[in-house]
Amino acid sequence: MVWVGSERMATKAKKKTKIEIEKNEDPQEDTMLMMALDDDAPEVKIDDLPGVGPATAEKLREAGFDDLLSLAVMSPADLAEQAEIGESVAGKIIAAAKKMANIGGFVSGGALLERRKEVQKLSAKVQSIDDLLGGGFETQALVEVYGAFGSGKTQIGHQLAVNCTLPVSEGGFDGDVFYIDTEDTFRPERITQMARGQGLDPDQVLARIHVARAYNSAHQMLLVDEIKRVGKGLNVKMIIVDSLTSHFRAEFIGRGMLANRQQKLNKHLKELKQLADINNALVLVTNQVHSKPDAMWGDPTKPVGGHVLAHASTFRLYLRKAKGGRRIARLVDSPNLPDGECVYQVTEEGLKD
Ligand SMILES: Nc1ncnc2c1ncn2[C@@H]1O[C@H](COP(=O)(O)OP(=O)(O)OP(=O)(O)O)[C@@H](O)[C@H]1O
Ligand SMILES: [Mg+2]
Repeated sequence: MVWVGSERMATKAKKKTKIEIEKNEDPQEDTMLMMALDDDAPEVKIDDLPGVGPATAEKLREAGFDDLLSLAVMSPADLAEQAEIGESVAGKIIAAAKKMANIGGFVSGGALLERRKEVQKLSAKVQSIDDLLGGGFETQALVEVYGAFGSGKTQIGHQLAVNCTLPVSEGGFDGDVFYIDTEDTFRPERITQMARGQGLDPDQVLARIHVARAYNSAHQMLLVDEIKRVGKGLNVKMIIVDSLTSHFRAEFIGRGMLANRQQKLNKHLKELKQLADINNALVLVTNQVHSKPDAMWGDPTKPVGGHVLAHASTFRLYLRKAKGGRRIARLVDSPNLPDGECVYQVTEEGLKD
């Protein structure tokens, strides 16, 4: 694993492809939302859970689980594997975490609105993009940026990584960025250019962008756990996965592997969304479009990942090149914003109107 940028000292801290085998029942995600809403409950520590002694508590913490929320949203098999405990013990811990966090029942629209008030918006520092997104890229959301090669997906990832370090008063999150690079296209030099474009000190920006190269899909998934661990004491406000799908696409070939691939991708996305919710952070993933239509991958203008990804993304942006070096971003299937397009440019200093 390659971490670029110094480890900062802790200061604070639908168009769905028709593939029948994909299932999107997602009770865990609903559970997570309910829990996140339960702000008034007294804080119970993981040590307070019945059956969790000091040794187990330590194992859980080492694996990155330090509150009830992070435990309650797990499946027994996953928790057992990640924390290296027995599956039946894991099942009991999860059940207890759910109970003690007092989840269940419906919440009012008003309570949901309260939760939504915590949402922050990251400015692209490009007016047309911010306007398209109703003010910027939201926290507690998973944004998928897709498009053909060279359409500018990685440029958006770099620009938002830089902007994330800006003060809140300037449209940033004053936060740390975790960048999972699967294609070896992260360039600190490009960050330097864009940081200068925003009048920032490039070294300070680079120090807050933590980059890991993912060598395969399993490694990519493990790196999400690593963020839970390494992110402690940091202000984790953005997680970028560039590209989300390339390893999955390369490794799971053929129709027989499809169910398996979608299952893994679904799990990966859930873990990313969990990080977004727990940290009130933004998750940005990039995705390719189908390059050659065939039985397996379908329409060449559609993003890879099918139903699973369409369902998991809160916002989807489709990028394409236009004449004169311009770029067009189209907002697709937003839950609360009209579909629309905006035009911008990629320059040496970064994205510009
Ligand atoms: N320093 C720069 N100044 C101006 N434009 C740049 C600069 N660096 C990159 N670009 C533009 O960005 C384009 C590359 O975009 P980017 O790498 O984001 O594409 P992508 O969508 O991530 O592609 P892929 O699918 O191959 O990963 C280049 O073709 C160029 O037009
Ligand atoms: Mg790229």
